Amino acid sequence: MFTTPRLTLLATVLCCGAMAAQAQNSAPIKVGLMLPATGTYAGLGTAIENGFKLYVSEHGGKLAGHSIEYFKVDDESDPSKATDNVNKLIKRDNVDVLVGTVHSGVALGMAKAARDNNTLLIVPNAGADAITGPMCAPNIVRSSFTNWQPGYATGVAAANKGYKKAMTITWNYSAGAEAVKGFTEGFEKGGGKVTKDLNLPFPNVEFQALLTEIASQKPDVVFAFFAGGGAVKFVKDYAAAGLNKSVPLMGSGFLTDGTLQAQGAAAQGILTALHYADNLDTPRNNAFRKNYAIAYKSNADVYAVQGYDAAQILNAGLMAAKGDLAKRDVITSAMRKAVVDSPRGKFTISAAGNPVQDMYLREVKGENNEMVSIAVKALADPARGCKL
Ligand code: BEZ
Repeated sequence: MFTTPRLTLLATVLCCGAMAAQAQNSAPIKVGLMLPATGTYAGLGTAIENGFKLYVSEHGGKLAGHSIEYFKVDDESDPSKATDNVNKLIKRDNVDVLVGTVHSGVALGMAKAARDNNTLLIVPNAGADAITGPMCAPNIVRSSFTNWQPGYATGVAAANKGYKKAMTITWNYSAGAEAVKGFTEGFEKGGGKVTKDLNLPFPNVEFQALLTEIASQKPDVVFAFFAGGGAVKFVKDYAAAGLNKSVPLMGSGFLTDGTLQAQGAAAQGILTALHYADNLDTPRNNAFRKNYAIAYKSNADVYAVQGYDAAQILNAGLMAAKGDLAKRDVITSAMRKAVVDSPRGKFTISAAGNPVQDMYLREVKGENNEMVSIAVKALADPARGCKL
């Protein structure tokens, strides 16, 4: 058959345009992991990355038909470097989606950049209330919590135990301040009174003077927000000062999550509230923990769950768009509408982009945070200031 030059040109355009679109559709998705690889939160970053990659490998290394290409930046949990670091992923590496981070101060910088550049952002830990409050945006969603949520649930649980007088202690940055605010709200609603807030700069671990003050004031209970290496040191120092015998210690669950091997005897019996407990006896959690232990030769923790669920949320968006990254509105709205079948239990996502989830009261037994009860069912962050 003979073709005219015009027809040949048309055929070429049709053929190669279709091939280019197909190549685009199956091109790897570029995921920018901005997590701490050094400092007090390094272990949390590793668990998040492991969890994310576990979900991808359980799906044959692909999400909605795309393989995944990872780009990594160590954010050092340093807010002053956040903008430069996130721009390496957005502008230099041209990633399709950002996943990060752990530290609220760094995450606030990431959220601003994600808004300014309209880049998809999934937050797999940092609880800064503002990210799903005044800074909320359709392209930003969390797989974790707001700092208010576990703080508030711990306050409710402490009041239910009949404690009347509490002191709080934390690092002096947004996560600590918001956790304390949540605790105070839950505790005082239940009839308790917070008598004093103590704090020290992040990531300092010189707790001695503050522990002496707790010993002299003798509150009924102490609420603490610490995580990672700092939480290990705090729980050990609390016990070494003998306070674990006289003043019960409670906290947002990060105080004892991913830390129990290192905390050992000092952590036994500590009560915390969080959206995960190690011993949730469901097929979903049991399979997740088993697969994680096989893949990484360590026990899963809440950070691993949040990384795993970040991948699940991304997958929900991509599947709805049949893998077409250009269908941005389809992706973002499906991510919001997902019912996430998480190892923590199924959860939904609020209009502001934050999980609506059960908060468990947990007790440390051996190397596990074991569920005692549900402290607050289906707790939604108030999302104060979010306008979409
Ligand atoms: C935060 O900065 O939001 C955070 C860090 C570690 C554990 C939990 C929250």
